[in-house]
Amino acid sequence: MELSGKVALVTGGGAGIGRGIVLAFAEAGADVAVLDLVSHFAAAVADEVRGLGRRAVAVTASVSDAAQVAEAVAATVEALGGIDILVNNAGFARASASVLDVPESQWDTVLDVNLKGPFLLAKAVLPHMRKRRPGGRIINISSLAGRSTSVFMGPDYTASKAGLLGLTRHLARELASEGITVNVVCPGSTETEFMLNLPANIREEAVKAIPMGRYGTPKDIADVVLFVASERSRYMTGATLDVNGGRLMI
Ligand SMILES: NC(=O)c1ccc[n+]([C@@H]2O[C@H](COP(=O)([O-])OP(=O)(O)OC[C@H]3O[C@@H](n4cnc5c(N)ncnc54)[C@H](O)[C@@H]3O)[C@@H](O)[C@H]2O)c1
Repeated sequence: MELSGKVALVTGGGAGIGRGIVLAFAEAGADVAVLDLVSHFAAAVADEVRGLGRRAVAVTASVSDAAQVAEAVAATVEALGGIDILVNNAGFARASASVLDVPESQWDTVLDVNLKGPFLLAKAVLPHMRKRRPGGRIINISSLAGRSTSVFMGPDYTASKAGLLGLTRHLARELASEGITVNVVCPGSTETEFMLNLPANIREEAVKAIPMGRYGTPKDIADVVLFVASERSRYMTGATLDVNGGRLMI
């Protein structure tokens, strides 16, 4: 199997796209640490991983808190023996039509979770990944919003996701000679709790702008992330992968 013998840590792994990535990795033979802010989300997905015959650990932490991140990484290494693959997937967003609708506190939270979080995780995981190199993988989950703008979210979200593209490029250059690749996957609108909670008329209008005529599913995104995590992507680093049903090109 593509990820046999590998250990992955997936942030925000307790729901939506993150859960899809965790399950795709487990089906491909990886053992997985499921990190989430919500304990019972992480625990339920870790159980699903065990149901697939792989080892799992559920870790409760906020990616924006350095002390919690350090504890989460230590707990992962303790339980699963190391870390080969880090997926920075946890994200936070609030719908905002205008810059005038974004309180400063929301700006801070969105930037803390979506951009500082991946920085903290990369810092905490790297010493462990170095012990198992080559073959280390850092995969950041940005967004179509980071490549363009968002029809639902405000400037806080777009700026955080665009910043993640820059963080990816820096890490990719810094770590390339060590055999650790760093890439970023940018989903378009994807059917998760957030999307399903939007009013039906907004969802129906937005889907018309997608050339493929439908929203993505967590599996659509997870399959691309699995490729990036695998040996098949070995010569790719610093790359931005757009997974949006063609929405970016129009
Ligand atoms: N769904 C979409 O349409 C879409 C589109 C583009 C990009 N994305 C990005 O994909 C990622 C996953 O999105 P989703 O739609 O699956 O979200 P979701 O809300 O369905 O799930 C996110 C998970 O992350 C967890 N989480 C939130 N804040 C956290 C924190 N501070 N620390 C740890 N865990 C935290 C939540 O508890 C939840 O389990 C996000 O980064 C999001 O920005 C989503």
